[in-house]
Amino acid sequence: MKIQSVRGTHDLLPESVALWQKIEAEARGVFQLYGYEEVRTPILERSELFARSIGAESDIVQKEMYTFSDSKGNTICLRPEGTAPVVRAYLEHGLDHDGLIHKLYYIGPMFRHERPQKGRYRQFHQVGVEVLGSDHPALEAEVIEMLERFLHKLGVKGLRLLLNSVGCAHCRPAYVKVLQKELNKRQDELCPECQRRSKTNPLRVLDCKVPACQPVIDELPSILDYLCDNCRQHFEKLRSYLDLQEISYEVTPRLVRGLDYYVGTTFEMVSSDLGPTQNAVVGGGRYDGLSELLGGPPGKGFGFALGIERLVVLLEESLDLRRPRPDIFLAYLDEGALKESFGLAQELRHQGVFAYIDFQGRSLKAQMRLANRLESRFTCIIGEDEIQSGQFPLKRMEDGHQVTLDREAIASYVKEDGAATS
Ligand code: HAM
Repeated sequence: MKIQSVRGTHDLLPESVALWQKIEAEARGVFQLYGYEEVRTPILERSELFARSIGAESDIVQKEMYTFSDSKGNTICLRPEGTAPVVRAYLEHGLDHDGLIHKLYYIGPMFRHERPQKGRYRQFHQVGVEVLGSDHPALEAEVIEMLERFLHKLGVKGLRLLLNSVGCAHCRPAYVKVLQKELNKRQDELCPECQRRSKTNPLRVLDCKVPACQPVIDELPSILDYLCDNCRQHFEKLRSYLDLQEISYEVTPRLVRGLDYYVGTTFEMVSSDLGPTQNAVVGGGRYDGLSELLGGPPGKGFGFALGIERLVVLLEESLDLRRPRPDIFLAYLDEGALKESFGLAQELRHQGVFAYIDFQGRSLKAQMRLANRLESRFTCIIGEDEIQSGQFPLKRMEDGHQVTLDREAIASYVKEDGAATS
C-alpha cells in the first residue's frame, strides 16, 4: 500500500508553489516599505509558552496542540501560532532593551489538531506581522493600511474589515460579569459548548457559529458600551486614523477572537467567498501584557496573521500562473549531438537563458512534441552538420520564423526577442 500524507496536511506541488512564492514575495516587498524585518523562530516551542499566552482554557491549548514529551521530560509542542514565539524571542534576546519600536514579520507553518475541512488544516501557513514597543493607535492604522496594500497588490477583492475593542483589565471584568448574568438566564437556548463556555470563558460565546445560538448572541450587551475611558478613546482614535486613510471597516462588537492575550483593538478580515464558517483570512489585534505573561517587563504589542491557504483559495482562480516556459529547447539527433547540446545549455544558462534538454532518449519527433508541450519559445535541432559548421538554426515556435546563428550569438538573440515580445 502506498503511504499517504498525514490527515490535515498538504503537499504543495510545483504548480501551486508559484502562487505561494508570489504571495511571499509581495509580502516581503510591501512590508519592507514600512520598515519591517523578518524573524524566524523555531517550530518547536515549550507548551507552557502557549498555555500562558493564548490561555490554558482556550480551544487551541485545550484541544488542538500537538504536544509531546522529549527524552528529558520537557513538554514540547509544534507551534500553533506565531505571536507568542515572536514575543518570547524578543524578550529572550533583549530586543526590548533599546527603547525602539521593533517591526517584525514571519512566514511559516503552524500546527493545530482541528477537524480538517475546507480552509481548515492541521498544518497551515501564516504570514504574520508583530510590532513591539508602542501602543499608538496610528501605528495600528498603519499596520492595517499595510495589510490592505499587500492584499490590493495581490489583487484580492471583496474582503471586509471587522473591527472591535475587547477592553482591558480595568473594564473587561465588569462586562464579563454582565455577560455571564445574561447567559445564565438563557442557558437552555444555548448549544452545549456555549453552556460550558458561559462558565469558563463567557466572551467566547460571542464567537459561536451555531445557528441556534445566534438569536441569543444578537441580544447580548455590547462590550463597546462597557469600555473604560482609555479604551474608548483609543478605539475612537484608531477609527479616525482609518477614516483618514479612507479604509472602510465594520465595527463588530461580537468579534472577540479565540486567543486570551488580546486587549483593546481586535480585527479580522473576512471573505464571503470562503463559506460561512472558516471565512477569516486575517486575524489580529493588540496584546499589551503578553510580555509580562511570559516573564518580561510590561510591553506593548500589536499584529496580525494571515492564513496563506485561505488567501490562495481567493486568488487561485483570478491569477494566471502557468509553469515557466523554456526559452530554448535543444533537440539532438545522436549521442554526439547530446554532448554538444549539454555544453551549449550550460553556456546559455550561465547567461540567464532557460535551456531545456530531454533526457529520456526520445526520437527527434518526440523531442519536438515535448518542446511544444512545454511551450518552449525557441527550438534548436543539433546534429553533425551544426557541430561541424558552428551554425545553429533557431526556430521561433510562435510563428515558425527561423534564423541561423553562431553559437555565441544565441543567448543574446533569445533574450532580445524575449524582451521585445514580453
Ligand atoms: P488566528 O485567528 O488564530 O490568529 O489565525 C490567523 C489566521 O490563520 C486565520 O484568520 C486563518 O486565516 C489562519 N488559520 C488559523 N487556523 C487555521 C487552520 N487550522 N487552517 C487554516 N488556516 C488557519 C493568530 O494566529 C494570531 N497569532 C494572530 C495575531 C498576530 N494576533 C496578533 N498578532
